[in-house]
Amino acid sequence: MPDKFYAEIFAQNGNSYHQAMQTWPQARDQEFNTALASLNLAQGAHVLDVPAGGGYLQRYLSDSHHYHGFDFSGGFDAAHNIVENCSETKIDIADSSMDAALCLASLHHIENRSEFYQEVRRTLKPNGVFLIADVVAGSPQDGFLNTFVNQWNSLGHEGVFIDLERDQEALVNAGFSCDYSVQHYHWQFRSSAEALEYFRLLFTLDRQPSDALLTKAITQLGEKKTSAAYCVRWSLGFIKAVKR
Ligand SMILES: C[S@@+](CC[C@H](N)C(=O)[O-])C[C@H]1O[C@@H](n2cnc3c(N)ncnc32)[C@H](O)[C@@H]1O
Repeated sequence: MPDKFYAEIFAQNGNSYHQAMQTWPQARDQEFNTALASLNLAQGAHVLDVPAGGGYLQRYLSDSHHYHGFDFSGGFDAAHNIVENCSETKIDIADSSMDAALCLASLHHIENRSEFYQEVRRTLKPNGVFLIADVVAGSPQDGFLNTFVNQWNSLGHEGVFIDLERDQEALVNAGFSCDYSVQHYHWQFRSSAEALEYFRLLFTLDRQPSDALLTKAITQLGEKKTSAAYCVRWSLGFIKAVKR
């Protein structure tokens, strides 16, 4: 798909995504904390977040960490000043300056993966960690995004999700060694009504599925109710790639 088409999609969907992330900033706490646990950052670490959306990772870092957020689209919080624009093949960061890099929930839209891996590798220090966390091909999240969201978002959704053999081979060819695991956690809300609102905004469900249809789709992902929270099960594949 041409870059321009994707850029238009993200400009349109980005505002809605950003609104969900700003309104319920705690919903994906477990996801960001799972990613950070895997990165195991030392004091003073420099962290590249790409693509960063509206820079949501930053609030999970400690004061000693240095955040570097980059995105391919201006659609996330046009007023922001913490995320800079970049392309998949050119990130304005000096060679060998980052301790870690994160690509969260985004790989499935990246077209030039080999070039992107090489560009991220260039920015990392020797033994720097590049963590890719994304939906696994054939998982319930794949079904949710490429079937349900594809049907109810007027711009569609066609993600190319993690295929371990393919993605690991491309990372090894780019100069990384890789570990892989699938992590399960929950997105957390105060109520099921709040979850419905969040899903409608995050995924720009502008064709407006009924509450019943959306509830059914969420139920297929897995849900859990506690006295204080309504939790939706989410899982991503985590590829931990180390610069060789
Ligand atoms: C689901 S958001 C994830 C953002 C953030 N990492 C997070 O976890 O919330 C997907 C990201 O992919 C980016 N993206 C990927 N490919 C793109 C392209 N070709 N054009 C524009 N944006 C693209 C979007 O800008 C966006 O930041």
